[in-house]
Amino acid sequence: MAFPPQFLDEIRTRLSVSTVVGRRVKLIRRGREFVGLSPFTNEKSPSFTINDDKGFYHCFSSGEHGDIFTFVMKTQNLSFPEAVERLAEEAGLEMPRQTPQEATDAAQGARGREAVDAACTLYEQALRAPEGRRALEYLKGRGLTDETIKRFRLGYAPGGNVVKTRFLARGVTEDILLETRLVSPGKDGRESFDFFRDRVMFPIFDLRNRPVAFGGRVLGETAGEGPQTNTGAPSRAGPKYLNSPDTPLFHKGQILYGMALARTAAAEKREIIVAEGYMDVIALAQAGFTHAVAPLGTAMTESQIELLWRMAPEPTLCFDGDKAGRAAALRAAERALPLLKPGLSLRFAILPAGKDPDDICRREGPDGMAQVLADAAPLSDVVWRQVLSEHRWDTPERRAGLEKAVLAKAGLIADETVQAQYRRLFRDRLFELFRSAGSPQGTRARGRGANRSGASAPGRDYRRPPPPLQPAPVRRIARDTTAAQRTRERILLATLLNHPGLRDHVEERLGALSLADSRLDSLRQIALMHIAQNPELDFEALRAHLSNLGFTEELGNLLNSDTYVHARFARPAASMDEATAGWDHTFTLCQRADLVADLKRAETELAENTSDETMAAHKALHALVYPASDDDGDEPGHSKR
Ligand code: UTP
Ligand code: MN
Repeated sequence: MAFPPQFLDEIRTRLSVSTVVGRRVKLIRRGREFVGLSPFTNEKSPSFTINDDKGFYHCFSSGEHGDIFTFVMKTQNLSFPEAVERLAEEAGLEMPRQTPQEATDAAQGARGREAVDAACTLYEQALRAPEGRRALEYLKGRGLTDETIKRFRLGYAPGGNVVKTRFLARGVTEDILLETRLVSPGKDGRESFDFFRDRVMFPIFDLRNRPVAFGGRVLGETAGEGPQTNTGAPSRAGPKYLNSPDTPLFHKGQILYGMALARTAAAEKREIIVAEGYMDVIALAQAGFTHAVAPLGTAMTESQIELLWRMAPEPTLCFDGDKAGRAAALRAAERALPLLKPGLSLRFAILPAGKDPDDICRREGPDGMAQVLADAAPLSDVVWRQVLSEHRWDTPERRAGLEKAVLAKAGLIADETVQAQYRRLFRDRLFELFRSAGSPQGTRARGRGANRSGASAPGRDYRRPPPPLQPAPVRRIARDTTAAQRTRERILLATLLNHPGLRDHVEERLGALSLADSRLDSLRQIALMHIAQNPELDFEALRAHLSNLGFTEELGNLLNSDTYVHARFARPAASMDEATAGWDHTFTLCQRADLVADLKRAETELAENTSDETMAAHKALHALVYPASDDDGDEPGHSKR
């Protein structure tokens, strides 16, 4: 609704800037103006001035400038109409009347709101009544305090048709009950019935903290608990969460769970956290992260991203580190790219696989959660790493392919300035990446220098072409992707990173491995090439190079005590001899594990289809896994050291 200018002027006349600002900022009069400490920066000497005659404020350190409406919008995270409404009320002015149609809709909307709010209260009371005991125990069992339960107005929807019966008796029409979907229409001429029955209730609030819809959770664990159950076969009790469908009051794609409670905190902290579920938002708030919201069980929409940016410039999205979570993070990144504006972006916190913020808050406390948030990666890194993990860059054509793909991502950004910055960042990174990929020949020349003058060096075969830096992946029938194997791969990488001097010794073997984790695989390729290109490289320089290329997170995951407990020789403090011996041993284990996986597969194939070919393949592999005198009693599953 557009406001008549005279109306806005009337509010400005009645409320001076110093009155409105003075409630938040301590002001001192100085001549015709007031000064104070800017609420927009963390300053020690006042650079914030107010001129009541001119009707504006100005912050000299941040450049913020505006009138009473912008001040309330900025400091309380309100939209313009909301700021107008709030200030009009303060000024004792009635909001201007709408058209008759708007008035009818508003009246209908108001009745709907009342019904939803009354239902919310009914559910809250039921939670405290004997019938809600199990639900209350459930919430308490998940660690929620009474204060948290009140703050989020959690409740319990009893079985049966309590809402329908009581509300009709009170004179609420069935129309309203159906429109708000508190009640479902009965199919095939049957009676309508309560939408939520025997569920823990999570009311969903609009920006003014009025309930407009609900999510209802089944009590207790669902079969096969976890995010995967969303689409899994519903148990007898239905899906884990049942949500109100869209109604005139509620548009799922335009609301974020918890946004009304979060936005004041978000304005103060200039930060907002985006989790995946109701319980995450609640657990985060209880742990002190009151600036948390969640989309409602769907991928983030454009409206939701825009909504977030009105609350904070760089919202941090939390995703489960499992495959589905990473895919969801990429979808969110792709959706945000076209919308980016100068200063506005997203950050991505990837949680350990299978964990949500609720788990982290409960198991590791606020510090653990704060750490996860602090480690969040910028949007540009998420996009860059993704493209990198999908490409190789060992030939000019492949390098061109990678370049094209990465610049195409930048091309999705509509804002020219941001797009130009992305192109620049990506070009710099490509340059850095390709610089070390450029001339494998030149690299190999190193180390032969001493032999150049001599006619030939015994034991060295100059006709042998240099091994490719990125050999085609070894054709494998099967790969061992167990946790143990992944740990071995991490150890191989960590040892090399901490001892770049190992490169000559390990290059060919490490180059021929293809790692189960595609991002570690990219890191492996880059590290090998960069060390090759810079023989005198030390650990710090290598680490800086990898960080520049967006691998900070992976480095953190590799070079830590989790890796070192398995392999002391991987530590930077280990001697070169220890590192070499440890690396060789681990590599043997790694290779053997892959061979054992191959052999298992060959056995299955042999059993399914016995032919000369499958028998020969099996025999050859068996000989590799159990060389020489191994007898047949030895099972491949029991890998011997
Ligand atoms: P999760 O399955 O991760 O649930 O779904 P959760 O929030 O961690 O819940 P708890 O901890 O098991 O209680 C994340 C979000 O997806 C939506 C809900 O919004 C949920 O919070 N969802 C999930 C549904 O809408 N329906 C479902 O059946 C499951
Ligand atoms: Mn959960």
